[in-house]
Amino acid sequence: MAWHAVAKAEDVGEGQVRAASAANKMIALYKIEGTFYATSDICTHAFALLSDGYLDGDCIECPIHQALFHVPTGEVRTEPATEPLQTFPVKVEGEMLMVEIGEDA
Ligand code: FES
Repeated sequence: MAWHAVAKAEDVGEGQVRAASAANKMIALYKIEGTFYATSDICTHAFALLSDGYLDGDCIECPIHQALFHVPTGEVRTEPATEPLQTFPVKVEGEMLMVEIGEDA
């Protein structure tokens, strides 16, 4: 596991989702009620970028078929997706957001 700098914390605004990448992973970054979260940016149903989706409270809605995922846990709240999203630990270091990604993740 390794921590990767993925974005400036100030670039992810409250209630927003933003695309980033690190360690060959496409990542979606979120700020929800002051807390940062990171998940895979790719919907588990088909290929869609969740960073193009709609953040509704603490859930992200896929822009293609409207599956709903709970951002803090990655769990599916609304089908058609059935597989949970991968989530990653996030920390703030200085002005940067750091995401922890496993070597084989
Ligand atoms: S691609 Fe996301 S719900 Fe189908």
